[in-house]
Amino acid sequence: MNRRTILGTVAAVGFGMITSVAGADGLPALEKKERYKVGFAQMESNNPWRIAETKSFHDTAESCNWDLVATDAAGSAAKQVSDVDSMIAQGIDVLFLPPREEKPLIPAVMKARAAGIPTFLVDRSVDSNVAQAGEHYVSFLGSDFIWQGQQVAEWTLENFKGEKGIIVELEGTTGSSPANDRRKGFDDVMAQHDNMEIVASQSGDFARDLGRQVMETLLQAHPDVNIVYAHNDEMAIGAIQALELAGRKPGEDVLVVSIDGTRDALQAIIDGKMGVTVESSPFFGPLACEVMNRYAEGEEIEPWVQVKDRIFTADNAAEFIDEAY
Ligand code: AHR
Repeated sequence: MNRRTILGTVAAVGFGMITSVAGADGLPALEKKERYKVGFAQMESNNPWRIAETKSFHDTAESCNWDLVATDAAGSAAKQVSDVDSMIAQGIDVLFLPPREEKPLIPAVMKARAAGIPTFLVDRSVDSNVAQAGEHYVSFLGSDFIWQGQQVAEWTLENFKGEKGIIVELEGTTGSSPANDRRKGFDDVMAQHDNMEIVASQSGDFARDLGRQVMETLLQAHPDVNIVYAHNDEMAIGAIQALELAGRKPGEDVLVVSIDGTRDALQAIIDGKMGVTVESSPFFGPLACEVMNRYAEGEEIEPWVQVKDRIFTADNAAEFIDEAY
């Protein structure tokens, strides 16, 4: 019997529907079963990345023996918390949670743990000052967002042709881990280069239309912008629309760089309108299945199961567009 199994047998009260519950500093155990009732609490479905992630969980369900309970919080952290409440009440065995923002989803993580439900954070994380892998949730499965921002910055430094870079940054959802980390990764690299200046940085909430609107506004204040760094491809495509509407030529007089690797972004690279997109894979279903099964076997899971991402440019976009989403 390993440490987790022992802790998993300790009983607790207070949240109803409790299956197996850890001791004060332990994690809930996951009993080996023929089929599992699995919760996947998606945050929103307003972009291709989210749709691909949800599809990956649905596509994995049968082969991994999951009865999947999937919800969509429609862009509301409060609804995502209540979706988790409802999954706990339905007696899920395990929870996969992509927390929309770092702080507001912590109550969901804590309630799942208290109810004896092992939780895996997927793609986004929570504030590590408050909740930690190995204690409050089992593990974080996801990309290195700081690395992604650094890669975009390094590629930009190597490929920008002008003398002085006037940069507009379109940030993701305020308070989310990818927005925080992608900003840090990029800004820290750029801060070491005197010829690069970030003149404006504003959230477009990871959404195409908001990215376009924010870019339209920022273009008026900064008509001399020559680099746009968007924290995801949807905002980059929105920015390209705004630039073209304003008579600018993305890819010629403005370098647009971004993160994700969507089909539209790869097409924009092929069309010469975008320079680079650093991959952020949304295909978490198979990884979730593998890690969950290891956990059910009693294996100690690493706190961060890191996803390795690629870099798409004009050199390889055509090669990968058919597998993009
Ligand atoms: O958490 C990953 C980010 O969330 C993706 O880059 C973005 O497109 C999505 O909404």
